[in-house]
Amino acid sequence: MNSTIFRDGLFDGQVAVVSGGGTGIGAAIARELARLGCTVVIASRKRDVIERAAAGLTAQVGREVFGDVCDIRDRDGVRALVDRTLERHGRIDHLVNNGGGQFFAPAETITPNGFDAVVSTNLTGTWNLTRAAADAWMLANGGTVTNITMLTKRAFPGMAHSHAARAGVEALTRTLSVEWAARGVRINSIAPGYIASSGIQRYPQGLDLIRTMQKVVPMKRLGTCDEVAWMVAFLHSPAGAYITGQTLTVDGGKELWGDYWPIPDPDPLPPIEVPVEPWDEP
Ligand SMILES: NC(=O)c1ccc[n+]([C@@H]2O[C@H](COP(=O)([O-])OP(=O)(O)OC[C@H]3O[C@@H](n4cnc5c(N)ncnc54)[C@H](OP(=O)(O)O)[C@@H]3O)[C@@H](O)[C@H]2O)c1
Repeated sequence: MNSTIFRDGLFDGQVAVVSGGGTGIGAAIARELARLGCTVVIASRKRDVIERAAAGLTAQVGREVFGDVCDIRDRDGVRALVDRTLERHGRIDHLVNNGGGQFFAPAETITPNGFDAVVSTNLTGTWNLTRAAADAWMLANGGTVTNITMLTKRAFPGMAHSHAARAGVEALTRTLSVEWAARGVRINSIAPGYIASSGIQRYPQGLDLIRTMQKVVPMKRLGTCDEVAWMVAFLHSPAGAYITGQTLTVDGGKELWGDYWPIPDPDPLPPIEVPVEPWDEP
């Protein structure tokens, strides 16, 4: 099936690597890039997930999508993934750092190991794969990178570890975009709001949480995985040729309005004292 938004053959002859491309948002990104002519390699930790997704995407798109196993926290493993991709497919034009994850936890309950694990996946993992692709291909030949982050401009209670890591990715995006602009490398981030992906089923509060999330989005719905994938395709196409170092938000207006998480009221609430001018004091 063809893209419903972009023209056929837009990325013909080009190669993309999508981390976490076997599920949810990553699978939608892989599908859109493959539909547009890219040879796509999806990579994540679980062999069974990645093999099933590669077969499913291949059948859906009618073009072979390749699966590879890789933990983005493992620097040698990441370099091996990049080397294998270059050996098999000859180039890496597009990299999408989508692989990641976290767990909801109030900051005071996050253990040192929990914090380190989330930062090493979401920040260091993104750095590992970006550096590997840059060193082995993009700094010499150009390329386009997109990092999938999260809403970082306001607070995100329950996500202290991931929020800090993703803000780090957005800062990294700005700096790399400047250092590498003259080498033909563009790098941007996409910050999704609440997206209806298979990933959000993993949150323990389940459907109740999703209903609450829906109410605090101005558009009163969750986003779709395709709505993130289309933004990736736009940024990687010639339409994005003059865009670099940016974080583009895809959130139905969420970041502008509404609470993420209710803060409990003290009982009683502090009284409101309305002052009088000092010269009018009794
Ligand atoms: N859905 C949302 O509302 C939302 C909002 C903001 C940001 N995001 C972010 O968008 C990305 C995709 O989310 P999603 O909703 O599609 O959830 P998802 O299905 O859980 O996707 C995460 C993917 O990352 C892979 N992954 C996790 N750790 C990895 C590692 N160490 N090395 C390689 N791959 C790894 C997972 O595969 P394996 O388990 O096989 O490794 C999985 O395919 C994530 O970074 C997520 O945090 C999602």
